[in-house]
Amino acid sequence: MIDRKVTLTDSLTGKSVELPVLDATYGDAVMDIGKLNKEFGLFTYDPGFVSTASCESAITYLDGEKGELMYRGYPIEQLATKCSFLEVCYLLWNGELPNKNEYIEFRNIIMHHTLMHETLRMFLDGFRYDAHPMAMMTGIVGSMASFYQDKLDINDPEHRMITAHRLISKMPTIAAACYKHSIGQPIMYPRNDLSYAGNFLHMMFATPCKEYIIDPVAEEAIDVLLILHADHEQNASTSTVRLAGSSGTNPFAAIAAGIACLWGPAHGGANEAVLKMLNQIGTVDNIDKFIAKAKDKDDPFRLMGFGHRVYKNFDPRAKLIKGIADKVLAKYGDDPLMHIAIRLEEIALKDQYFIERKLYPNVDFYSGIIYKALKIPVTMFTPMFVIARTIGWITHWNEMISDPNLKIGRPRQRYIGPTERDIKK
Ligand code: SDX
Repeated sequence: MIDRKVTLTDSLTGKSVELPVLDATYGDAVMDIGKLNKEFGLFTYDPGFVSTASCESAITYLDGEKGELMYRGYPIEQLATKCSFLEVCYLLWNGELPNKNEYIEFRNIIMHHTLMHETLRMFLDGFRYDAHPMAMMTGIVGSMASFYQDKLDINDPEHRMITAHRLISKMPTIAAACYKHSIGQPIMYPRNDLSYAGNFLHMMFATPCKEYIIDPVAEEAIDVLLILHADHEQNASTSTVRLAGSSGTNPFAAIAAGIACLWGPAHGGANEAVLKMLNQIGTVDNIDKFIAKAKDKDDPFRLMGFGHRVYKNFDPRAKLIKGIADKVLAKYGDDPLMHIAIRLEEIALKDQYFIERKLYPNVDFYSGIIYKALKIPVTMFTPMFVIARTIGWITHWNEMISDPNLKIGRPRQRYIGPTERDIKK
């Protein structure tokens, strides 16, 4: 193994420092700067963490140049076509795919903890009917620590696993309950005999008045979308969960912080923003006007669902989601917004502005069209992302808490404020 190092020299002081370079399984090696400030008297400065690795992780790898994504070494294309979401949850948490018996046991555990505490259900009554479901989910998930405090010793692996099961099991129940609250319908209790995706559709669209038949096309589409959104290395919301969790707070609080971060339109809120944008564009003829807005530095408008911090080639998830959209629309009927989206992609990908900046459709560009076809309202698009990403968040949290070298995350800064002065009174 080469003892690889990087040497930095300060042109002002003439001082040098050698920093060890640590190799990675895939992707860029890292320069360990842990001793930099102590020995060299400088901080690194990297707003937005464009060139910063915050941790080491064995969960997910993505290659932005090649447009590759893998969970625990398995390519996303294989997971999306050969596995169920619960198999992927097992894989992410345990590091290996389950055998038949392991899968049956895991599925039973998850599908037998889908109820939320009856008092927790009453929290919904405190929200206005028009409360955004992401506001409700942030509050409800954070309050779960007051209901499930029997297994909150974060140093106990079994407690961490039970909490993960509770979060995976109950997130669809909470999300669907938020939807039912917003339309004034009675909350539908989960059915443990259904699949994970089927149960979610049941809780969203069934009513006590008549039998609800689950459409297998919708059930499969939801299950694959959950797989595609399950994890994505150190994205903003996962990094939020890690930073919050590094203080030793309980996992429900850390996940609630992740939900809050995901809500932003630059992150998971983009799927809702894409639908609003496509509706705003309205017709294919208006596309050029919006492309011009997106390129105008004086206009805050961005092409929602386009661009990515890591993918500088296509987002492999966007390609898979576009395929699901074709299948769903073939069953549920065409959607003019899909034509606008396809034409928008065609025009943007030929435009020098987008080509130079390597801006491609990301995971959020087509997903909303599928949700719309399945009659899932726009405000529920990001909660769909929450249901999927819960396994990613709690797996990263578990990886961090299990690390014997865990330190609280505490970045420094470049101070540019006033010099010292006295109060004159
Ligand atoms: C997700 O990180 C993850 O992994 C996230 C995610 C996950 O699974 O967890 O993949 C999920 O969040 C996907 C991204 C969803 N967000 C959107 O679709 C919102 C629209 N996209 C942009 O806001 C933006 O592309 C980001 C936030 C996604 C990435 O921003 P970066 O990496 O900070 O890029 P940047 O802002 O530095 O942009 C570089 C250039 C700039 O132009 P210049 O200053 O160089 O002239 O590209 C331009 C930007 O203005 N640009 C865009 C654009 N995205 C970037 N211009 C128009 N439209 C866009 N969408």
